[in-house]
Amino acid sequence: MKKTALITGILGQDGAYLAKLLLEKDYQVYGLIRRYTNPNYSNLDYLGVTDDIEYVSGDMNDEASLMNIIKLTTPNEVYNLAAQSFVGSSWDQAKLTTEVNSLGVLYLLNAIRFFSPRSKFYQASTSEMFGNSSSKGIQTEETPFHPRSPYAISKLYAHWMTVNFKESYGLFCTSGILFNHESPIRGIEFVTRKITDGIARIKLGLAKEIRLGNIESKRDWGFAGDYVEAMWLMLQQKEPDNFLISTGINHSIKDFLEIAFGRVGIKDWKKYIKIDPRYKRPAELFVLQGKSDKAHRKLGWKPKVKFEELVKMMVDADIKRLG
Ligand code: NAP
Ligand code: GDD
Repeated sequence: MKKTALITGILGQDGAYLAKLLLEKDYQVYGLIRRYTNPNYSNLDYLGVTDDIEYVSGDMNDEASLMNIIKLTTPNEVYNLAAQSFVGSSWDQAKLTTEVNSLGVLYLLNAIRFFSPRSKFYQASTSEMFGNSSSKGIQTEETPFHPRSPYAISKLYAHWMTVNFKESYGLFCTSGILFNHESPIRGIEFVTRKITDGIARIKLGLAKEIRLGNIESKRDWGFAGDYVEAMWLMLQQKEPDNFLISTGINHSIKDFLEIAFGRVGIKDWKKYIKIDPRYKRPAELFVLQGKSDKAHRKLGWKPKVKFEELVKMMVDADIKRLG
């Protein structure tokens, strides 16, 4: 019998990469999608898996829909990737962000508790939960949390609720604290993709500049394809546990710009960048750098794609797409 998995957020970046990985492992994959007049399958199309998924209709804001889906599918594994995932929008839409990212997780956990308590559960937690809290500039599983955006706060609620369902009801609940991970199908508003898409437009004569906010920030950027493997590994363990997933190396947005522009032969990249206060955040998170020793040791997980490779992969893909 095939193993079964339900992925929420299947149309997003991670949902698409995880679906591909699980299909390669011969899982039957259920994908939760919201009701849309015109749903966007472009990420799944990009990875060539659109037709191999069984879609189920529901919404993280609709508790009954989640109960119904869990009851009907009783999957071996549930990966909760659905979220209002853009930090920048979370100040403008704090209530929506909380409903989807916090309450939605509570609804899903209760659905599992009542209708499929043997399902293993993965929660997509985030390095944003640390905020600027770190003694030596490097975060580990032990670093205290100090969320600095409505998004990060909503995710911290979900993180602790996941831990609590494990401790209260003995469910197999894990939380993956993932640092930024990118790919050619990263959402267009996130800074990496905004840059690579902008560079492709500049190179092809379709745009003259890229408008950005705080380019001093540093992030620990990895490749999404590597990170979904860590999610899967977490659910293959005997006991549920939380893991931090990162590359261990960080770079500034300026580093990203230099390599990305370099890829298309532009050295004087500064003349194409305009700093626009609209893209600055009310509370910034300046430096993220994670230490994934526990994941290396217990999961045997290590990232494969290096930073430069990732940047070039994204630039090349955008040039190809627009060209
Ligand atoms: P993404 O591309 O923005 O995908 C998020 C998905 O959530 C979208 O497919 C979206 O559906 C779905 N969604 C939003 N609201 C929903 C609702 N009310 N009901 C059902 N589905 C809903 O995000 P991602 O980069 O793949 O990230 C996946 C998860 O990991 C997110 O929870 C994110 O917060 C977390 N995370 C991401 C990173 C990262 O660097 N990528 C790092 C740490 C944690 P539509 O397609 O219908 O809009
Ligand atoms: N999006 C965006 N757009 N960010 C900009 C811009 C801009 O024009 N200019 C500067 N930045 C800075 C942001 O202020 C932030 O410091 C950094 O670039 C990264 O921003 P994002 O790419 O939007 O990602 P994020 O780090 O805020 O959040 C992502 O990673 C988290 C994990 O650490 C998202 O994927 C979250 O969902 C995820 O939890």
